Amino acid sequence: MNSDSDLQIAGDILEVPHLMQPPREHPATVAEFAGLARSLAADRSQWEHLVEYDAVSRWYHRLRTGPGYEVWLLSWVPGQGSGRHDHGRSSGVLTVLDGTLTERTERGTRALTAGAQRVFAPGYTHDVVNDALEPAVSLHIYYPGLTEMPMLPGPGSVRPRRPPPLRTARPVRRPVR
Ligand SMILES: [Fe+2]
Repeated sequence: MNSDSDLQIAGDILEVPHLMQPPREHPATVAEFAGLARSLAADRSQWEHLVEYDAVSRWYHRLRTGPGYEVWLLSWVPGQGSGRHDHGRSSGVLTVLDGTLTERTERGTRALTAGAQRVFAPGYTHDVVNDALEPAVSLHIYYPGLTEMPMLPGPGSVRPRRPPPLRTARPVRRPVR
């Protein structure tokens, strides 16, 4: 075997940790945002006690913020929907934590069950609704943080629906389970 091969020179990256990138405190790529969402989805202690089903409007809780991004937890009772909207200049990662959400886009309808992820770029338009009989919980990461959510006329709608009031969570006084 040729001892000058790149493989022998490079060796095993795990044996030369000083050559590895230090782990970033904050995600900076689409893959890292998706990974953050998956790690939060897997750790129910991070969000389960913050879920609150509200029959009047979807329940929003800003779970965390970082440089240029926001993470929101949304709770949906059956029948609640977002209306058709885009996300301004934000990109995003939508992850279903519990239940099933239905996403409608110009390309069709898809059911998103727990664990499903959708990654979208600025300008992406969709309508998300809990069409199921069980409540649902979802995690939304926006980069940059969501400053606007323009509502768009949907097929058959008479006029654009107004966005629901963005309610931030009250301090949680329930005992942490
Ligand atoms: Fe959305």
